[in-house]
Amino acid sequence: MPSYAITTFGCQMNVHDSERMHEVLRGAGYAEADAGVADVIVLNTCSVREKAEQKLRSEVGRLAKQKRNQRDLVVVVAGCVAQQEGERLVKQLQGIDLVLGPDNIPELPRLLEELALGAPPTVRTVFDTETPKFLTALSVAGASKTAFVTIMKGCDERCSFCIVPYTRGPERYRPSGEIVAEIAALVAVGVREITLLGQTVNSYTDPTKALPPAPDATPGDPDESEFAALLRAIADRVPELMRLRYTSPHPRHLTRSLIRAHAEVAVLARHVHMPVQSGSDRLLKRMIRRYSRAEYVERTSALVAAVPGLTLSTDIIVGFPGETEEDFDATLSLVREVGFKGLFGFKYSERPFTPARKLQDDVTEAVKSERLARLFELSESLLGAHLTSLIGSTQRVLVEGLDKERGELWSGRTDRHEIVHISGAAGLDLAGDVVDADITRSNKHSLQGELTASARGSARPRTAPEKSARRSLPLVAIAEGA
Ligand code: 5AD
Repeated sequence: MPSYAITTFGCQMNVHDSERMHEVLRGAGYAEADAGVADVIVLNTCSVREKAEQKLRSEVGRLAKQKRNQRDLVVVVAGCVAQQEGERLVKQLQGIDLVLGPDNIPELPRLLEELALGAPPTVRTVFDTETPKFLTALSVAGASKTAFVTIMKGCDERCSFCIVPYTRGPERYRPSGEIVAEIAALVAVGVREITLLGQTVNSYTDPTKALPPAPDATPGDPDESEFAALLRAIADRVPELMRLRYTSPHPRHLTRSLIRAHAEVAVLARHVHMPVQSGSDRLLKRMIRRYSRAEYVERTSALVAAVPGLTLSTDIIVGFPGETEEDFDATLSLVREVGFKGLFGFKYSERPFTPARKLQDDVTEAVKSERLARLFELSESLLGAHLTSLIGSTQRVLVEGLDKERGELWSGRTDRHEIVHISGAAGLDLAGDVVDADITRSNKHSLQGELTASARGSARPRTAPEKSARRSLPLVAIAEGA
């Protein structure tokens, strides 16, 4: 049986694509193996920032050397760098056998078969614009308690810094019936939390026009976003679903109807990741974000007012061309004003094919680093204060698995996405449960809690070793731009 290994770089969309590649390869009779011994190595790449792209180049260099001893090794470059560079990759870098775009995943086994029969290095990077395909996750009982479901792909925004419209193509939407059916199937095998995925997830419209409007919708009102209607449909038709999230939205589509849905649909998490990128109107214009700072604040405040306690996190780029100290101060003041409880910060990185290439990348690396450090200092202090304020409270936690690093502790998240490590559960199996924990301590990025007596009383005893024990939760709060 031929074997394969996949290495994933980048965003959740890539993680999701890698899962689909696992499925098509397993379906075609391949077995997963360690990267050191696999017959086929897939690198699922990211090109959103230069550093991510460099990682790929050094990895391919390493594999080209490995090929000298392992002549049959097949190297596949998939994902965004594949889509962006196409033929050029094969010409520039030695050792690549297949370049595969994100829309061509189902063709992977066939292309590998052709290579095995002696086909030359192949490039397959064709968007499925005419008949978009959305690969459905296989619903496997006992698998993870959380899952991603793609609802749209591509991006029609033209943010001047961003390569995604180029690497992921134009917006295409999935029929709502298919989305609901996939979620229902996942929930039927034990998935508790679904995250809807899309590059501008909240611009969703149903290509089949099958969604009922919201109860108090005004017909023809452009504010009646179909994304809100989709959220309502999921909640109505899959009532067993425990928690619903989405990523990544664009502030432009944070409509009144979406805010109403947040207030009325109980299954929606009380946390939204809403990328702002900058707090300076001058820069927001240069970034072609199509909203002002005041509009962002107004919409997110309306959301928080509609859902008391809802927390926001965001993405910010520092050192965009022309960013002055004053612009950066505006960003810091916005972070304070909104009070983000999580923040991903990135140094601006010039990308091919983006409109911002016309602007000079004039903020020095040293200034970018210094601004990023100041930004993180502020966001860490906001998160720290928030987590500390929760000591003494009781939080409801959806338990995802045993925490590898913390031995006997179970880990999960609150509906606001705070990570909680739970003690007082020795000998118990909490996987997939929603339990109450008394918060006793705050760490830098997480909370520590004790299972409440009543939760302990109703928990299952642990029998077999917990399957998801290997899993440790990724950091949610702060990330340096990779
Ligand atoms: N440089 C730096 N950061 C970028 N991002 C997107 N493009 C760039 C770029 N050229 C960041 C944005 C986006 C996140 C996924 O990556 O903040 O929201």
